[in-house]
Amino acid sequence: MRDLSTEILIQVMEDVIEDLHGHVHRVSDLAVNLGTGLGLEGEDLKRLALAGVLHDVGKIHLDPGILGKPGPLTEEERELMRRHPELGFAMTRNRLDPKVAEAILYHHERYDGNGYPFGLRGPEIPILSRVILVADAFDAMTSVRAYQPALPVEYAVDEIRRNSGTQFDPGVVEVFLDLAERDMLPRALAG
Ligand SMILES: [Fe+2]
Repeated sequence: MRDLSTEILIQVMEDVIEDLHGHVHRVSDLAVNLGTGLGLEGEDLKRLALAGVLHDVGKIHLDPGILGKPGPLTEEERELMRRHPELGFAMTRNRLDPKVAEAILYHHERYDGNGYPFGLRGPEIPILSRVILVADAFDAMTSVRAYQPALPVEYAVDEIRRNSGTQFDPGVVEVFLDLAERDMLPRALAG
């Protein structure tokens, strides 16, 4: 399904950025489950799977010292970090399906318009990006990160419920909560 250059890119990304190792595949799987629950099908699910894996690929260009920093980032470091969606878009726009590149570009936009890089809101944000945001948030909270230990699944589910309509698309959250209720959320190998 994925060509060799994409496979190599994914491998490099996981080797170089410790926090992304394994994470990107769990995000991809959860995103596809959410997309299926939303009624997406065919090509859209394939795009979601690929954009789910590659959403943070732009971080390859960032300073490893910032990516692996255990404490909070300075304002300047945060600004650099916030460039990763555009860097990922630049890497993929001429190589992959344009909708995959777009899903990467908008994966930190928030439903209420307070996200980045553009502050798009609601349905202006491509649905693939709105789905990835929820899957990414859940897995980031429940896996070990340079800056935090893994948080309990129940906590992460509550956070996503609490931020429905502000950070997250309520339609995506509804499908997410349904998966949670049926105990179908992926569990990171935390520890
Ligand atoms: Fe990201």
